[in-house]
Amino acid sequence: MKIIIVNGPNLNLLGEREPDIYGYDSLEQINNWIKNHDSCKNVDIEFFQSNSEGKIIDFLHKKRKEADFCIINAGALTHYSYSLRDAISASQLETIEVHLSDIHSRENFRKTSVIKNVCIGQFFGQGKQSYIAAIEHILEKK
Ligand code: DQA
Repeated sequence: MKIIIVNGPNLNLLGEREPDIYGYDSLEQINNWIKNHDSCKNVDIEFFQSNSEGKIIDFLHKKRKEADFCIINAGALTHYSYSLRDAISASQLETIEVHLSDIHSRENFRKTSVIKNVCIGQFFGQGKQSYIAAIEHILEKK
C-alpha cells in the first residue's frame, strides 16, 4: 500500500517555528520517526513538502493514480484554499487531514477547514502522533 504524506507552507520550519505550539522536532525528524514507526512496517510512504499551493496541487495530480491514500497537513491552506480542496476532490485520492496543533482551540480562522468535506478523516492536536493516528485509521479501513 502506498501513502503520500504532504506537508504545506511553513512546515519546513518545524523545530524552530513556534515550538511551544508545534514541538521541537524538525520535519525531517518527524518524517524519519513516522517511517520507522511500528504501524508503518508494511507501508510504502512518500513524503512531500512545499510552500507553494501550486506545487502541492501538481503533486496530487501526479500521484493520483499511483498512491492509495494521501495524508495532508496543509498548514494555513487548510483554512482558505478552495484550489487545494478541488485538487483533493479531483484526484480521487482518499485523503486524511492532519494538524499538529489543536486547530479548534486556537484563533477563530483556524477553526474552519475548507478541505474537511473532501477528506475521510481529520486528526489534530496530537503533535506528530496525529500522522500516526491517520495511518492507523487507514490501516483499520483496509
Ligand atoms: C497546522 C495548523 C495551521 O493552522 C497552521 O497554519 C499550520 C500548522 C498544524 O499542523 O497545527 O501551519 O496545520
